[in-house]
Amino acid sequence: MKEAFTFHDVLLVPKRSSVRSRKDVDTSGRFSKNITLKCPVVSANMDTVTEARMAIAMARCGGLGIIHRFLTIEEEVAEVVKVKRAESVVIENPYTVGPEDSLEYARSLIERHEVGGLIVVDRERRVVGILSNRDMQFQTDGAVQIKRVMTKNPITAKVGTTPDEAEEILREKKIEKLPLVDGKGVLQGLITAKDIKAKRHRPEASKDKKGRLLGGAAVGGVGDFMERAAALLEGGADCLVVDVAHGHADHVIDAVKKLKKKFGSAELVAGNVATYEGARDLAAAGADGIKVGVGPGSICSTRIVSGSGVPQLSAVIECAKITKERGIPVIADGGIRDSGDITKALAAGASSVMLGSLLAGADESPGWTVVRGGTRYKVYRGMASLTATLSRKKKESTENLDPIEVAEVVPEGVESMAPYKGPVAEVVYQLQGGLRSGMSYSGARSLPEFWTKAEFVRISAAAWAESKPHALDK
Ligand code: XMP
Repeated sequence: MKEAFTFHDVLLVPKRSSVRSRKDVDTSGRFSKNITLKCPVVSANMDTVTEARMAIAMARCGGLGIIHRFLTIEEEVAEVVKVKRAESVVIENPYTVGPEDSLEYARSLIERHEVGGLIVVDRERRVVGILSNRDMQFQTDGAVQIKRVMTKNPITAKVGTTPDEAEEILREKKIEKLPLVDGKGVLQGLITAKDIKAKRHRPEASKDKKGRLLGGAAVGGVGDFMERAAALLEGGADCLVVDVAHGHADHVIDAVKKLKKKFGSAELVAGNVATYEGARDLAAAGADGIKVGVGPGSICSTRIVSGSGVPQLSAVIECAKITKERGIPVIADGGIRDSGDITKALAAGASSVMLGSLLAGADESPGWTVVRGGTRYKVYRGMASLTATLSRKKKESTENLDPIEVAEVVPEGVESMAPYKGPVAEVVYQLQGGLRSGMSYSGARSLPEFWTKAEFVRISAAAWAESKPHALDK
C-alpha cells in the first residue's frame, strides 16, 4: 500500500535566495494550455462562489473565475456575457435603444445588463444620442420618450480610433463615452473612460486579445453538455471546464473527446481526478488542463461517504507528471486553507489552484449573508450537499419535490458558512503575497524555477502545532 500526504504533512525547506524583494517574484501560472494567469488563483465553479460578479473581480486581480453550471443554459450564458462585457478596449456591440422607446424600458435594460448608459440609435443604427444616468436622474415619468431626455448629437469618433486617441478625445471633451461610427454615422463600437482607466490601473488583469476580461464556465459530462458548451462559447467563454466529481470515468473521457472534436479551438479543462492515470487519460482525450482533487474540499464528504480519494498533495504530485510529459497544466482544486497551501500545491507541480472556501466569504460571491453570534458569514455549500442537490432538482421541475426523491439523495458534501471577508481583491492580494513570499523562501523567481528548487520535508503533528501561532496556547 502506498502512503499519501497532504498540505499539513509537509513544509518547504528554505533555500539560499537571491530574491531581494518579493515584488521580483513572478507568480504567473497556467490554467490551461493557452491561458496564463499572473495570479494563478481560480474561483471554484460552485453556486456559492462564482457567478459574474466574482468572475469579473477575479479576472481584475489577474486570476480567473469559472461560472458554475447549476443554472439554465440561458442563465449561465448571461453570466458569461456580463463578464465579457465588463471591460474591453472597444465594446463591439454596445447596448442600444431607439429615440421613441420609453425611459422605463431603458432603465430595465440598464438594470438587466448592469451598464452605466445606452447609445440611442435610429432605425438605420445611426447614433442620435446617449442616455446616461445623469440624463435620467431626476426623471420620474417612466413613460417619457428617450429623445426628450437623452444627450443629443454626442461626440463620436471614426471606427479604428485607437485607445490612446480615444483617451485624448475623452479628456479634451470631458466625456465618458465615445461611440465609434462608420462614414454614415452607423454605430460600430464604443470606448468608455471607465475601461481606459481600468486598463491603466490594472495591468495584471487577465484579459483576452480584445482587452476583455477572461471568464470560464462549467459544463457537465452528460445531458445537455454539448448544447450548453456551444452556447457558452458563443457567449464568449474563454474556456470550458468539464466538471464531474469522478472525472476518470468512461463517460467523462467520451464527453471530453466529443467536446474537443466539435470545439477544437476552445480551451478545455477537465476533472476531477486524483491519479496519474486519470490525468493521462483526460489529456489523451484532449483536455488542455487537468483539475485535480477527489474529496479534499472543505465542504466535501466524499471520502467519508464513499471511502474514496487521495490526499491532495500526493494527488497533485502524481498528476503533475502530465505537465512534464505533455505540457498540460494541472490545477489543484480543493483543500487549500491558507496561502501556504497554495505555495505547497504549486511546489508539488500544480500550475494554478482552485479555491472555494477561501473566496466564499467575499462580497462578490453569490448567496446569503448570515449573522451568528454577532459575526457575519456567507453561506457556503458543497455542490453535492443535500440542499444544493434539492435546489437543482427543484429547478428542473415545476412540481413539489417528492419526499421519496428527497430521501433517495446520498449527499457527498455539506452546508457550511464562510466568515465574511470583504472585497475579494483584498483576499487575493493577501494570498498572492503569501505565495510570493513562499517562492522567495525557496529562492525562486518564477514557477518553472520553483518546480526545480522546491524541496518538501515531512513533518510530525507536533511540528505542525509548532508551525501555527501558539503564543496564547496554554
Ligand atoms: P475548498 O476546500 O476550496 O474546495 O472549499 C472547493 C472544491 O471542493 C469541490 N466540491 C465538492 N467536493 N462534494 C465534494 O466531494 C461536494 O459537494 C463538493 N462541492 C465542491 C470542488 O472541487 C471545489 O472546487
